[in-house]
Amino acid sequence: MVRSLDMPTSAMETLAWSASRDLKVVTGKRYLDDFDVLVSNTDTLAFLGSVPDESFQLVVTSPPYNIGKPYEQRQEFKDYLEWQELVIKECVRVLKQGGSLCWEVGNYQTKSRTQTTQ
Ligand SMILES: C[S@@+](CC[C@H](N)C(=O)[O-])C[C@H]1O[C@@H](n2cnc3c(N)ncnc32)[C@H](O)[C@@H]1O
Repeated sequence: MVRSLDMPTSAMETLAWSASRDLKVVTGKRYLDDFDVLVSNTDTLAFLGSVPDESFQLVVTSPPYNIGKPYEQRQEFKDYLEWQELVIKECVRVLKQGGSLCWEVGNYQTKSRTQTTQ
């Protein structure tokens, strides 16, 4: 990855970086038309449902891995996959033609097997 030294590395740095460049930073539960940076702290499917088709060139997502991380509420694997299938379909819908989707997954190792959410 190529990274300029003055690029932000966290959400807080992004906000500070945006403000220092006179970018229009907005917050909200739904997609808006006019912004440079939109910060939305809400359910991902609720937010994605408000985004018009083919809005983004790049989607980068790091969903819960469902492998027992402290911040997760673990679901049945089948339920988790069904949920993520909905999320991915929405991510694809909001991508422009030729856009890219990065979907980060977790990996869980037991004595007998490896379970992955790929
Ligand atoms: C794997 S973590 C992401 C970690 C983050 N990428 C990082 O590097 O720190 C998954 C995140 O998804 C959030 N999350 C869980 N359910 C969600 C939902 N329904 N809608 C939006 N975010 C959700 C969790 O609060 C958690 O912060």
